[in-house]
Amino acid sequence: MHPVWRAPPSGDTLCFTTYTFQRRKKSLMALTPTPADHFTFGLWTVGYNGADPFGGPTRAALDVVHVVEKLTELGAYGLTLHDDDLFAFGSTDAERRTQIDRLIAATASTGLKVPMITTNLFSAPVFKDGGFTSNDRAVRRFALRKVLRNLDLAAELGAHTFVMWGGREGAEYDAAKDVRSAIARYREAVNLLTQYVTDKGYGIRFAIEPKPNEPRGDILLPTVGHAMAFIETLEHPELVGLNPEVGHEQMAGLNFTAGIAQALEAGKLFHIDLNGQRGIKYDQDLVFGHGDLHNAFSLVDLLENGGPGGGRAYDGPRHFDYKPSRTEDETGVWASAAANMRTYLLLKERAKAFRADPEVQAALAAARVDELAQPTLGAGETVDDLLADATAYENFDAGSYFNGRGFGFVHLQQLATEHLMGAR
Ligand code: GCO
Ligand code: MN
Ligand code: MN
Repeated sequence: MHPVWRAPPSGDTLCFTTYTFQRRKKSLMALTPTPADHFTFGLWTVGYNGADPFGGPTRAALDVVHVVEKLTELGAYGLTLHDDDLFAFGSTDAERRTQIDRLIAATASTGLKVPMITTNLFSAPVFKDGGFTSNDRAVRRFALRKVLRNLDLAAELGAHTFVMWGGREGAEYDAAKDVRSAIARYREAVNLLTQYVTDKGYGIRFAIEPKPNEPRGDILLPTVGHAMAFIETLEHPELVGLNPEVGHEQMAGLNFTAGIAQALEAGKLFHIDLNGQRGIKYDQDLVFGHGDLHNAFSLVDLLENGGPGGGRAYDGPRHFDYKPSRTEDETGVWASAAANMRTYLLLKERAKAFRADPEVQAALAAARVDELAQPTLGAGETVDDLLADATAYENFDAGSYFNGRGFGFVHLQQLATEHLMGAR
């Protein structure tokens, strides 16, 4: 029998099996989620009953206490929710209180956290033209009251992040919405809310979740970039960041990892919605990794290894905003919840192996990836110095880039692919 960590010669089936088994056994522990992994789930995700525009529910509603118990059992860290996930829109104060108390009791006995909550400003008919940006001023005032009340709940539940997904903030028809006024009303709302949490001393930050469309034909603040530009116009920009979702950027054909990198660079990654999406179509909300797997790999690599010195780049919850397909029964719901976490942990393990591979390190060096961190001008160099530097222009051999000086990015991507496939 060969020693455990030596790669087997090809054709030796017995040895190969032993090798694979030992390797798998070593990683199995790391693939069991624990609260230290900070995995969180929306109550509306596992609670999704399967209804879509073409058919009604295929599953019964799940009680919040049951959800708290199941997520704890699966190794999750926390639960997130909209107000209306916990108590139906229009509930009496007593009904609302009963549900809040049931949640608090369940989290106290299981240790599950509620690190983020959000407000539903999209399901009830009153929000058919949006909440903060409805053309109807009375609706806008009602929406603000609903959110303020929910901020008090966030503080009570110990949530530090308040997500704002404006699914109904938008329009189908250009003449129907004065977009400049709508942006001004959005700003007015966010300014009011940031002032409220400041005055109350709540220690809550806001995370705007961009989405290009669905349910509205066009949604305001449709991408990470639009939202980042908007945040800079606010009265308390330091209290407002982003909650980007994998599928939302990919619905617009954008590279999610690249968007996350820009948000990190701006210090704006306050929260994240992980799921899977297969190309430019409706919001699929598949299990994380069940869409663009290469992009999921580079995302986990960035989150886990993209920080200073190769450490974590993002410390917040790894939040899954997915929908168990309507084909599944309740067993399938919990299997899909576990699949999100397992896929994340597998990708984390694969990304670690990728970074540790000497051949990858060599390919990164050949591709000069690190060189980009070096400022283009020397310390103290002025524009006159640059103009006087003949090596930068007059004597620079730009022609050598034809038929030579390749960067080897494809080789690097192949190595990433092989690590992703478990082939290395
Ligand atoms: C969607 C969104 C929502 C939000 C949620 C939290 O496309 O439906 O992703 O699931 O994330 O409303 O604000
Ligand atoms: Mn979504
Ligand atoms: Mn989301």
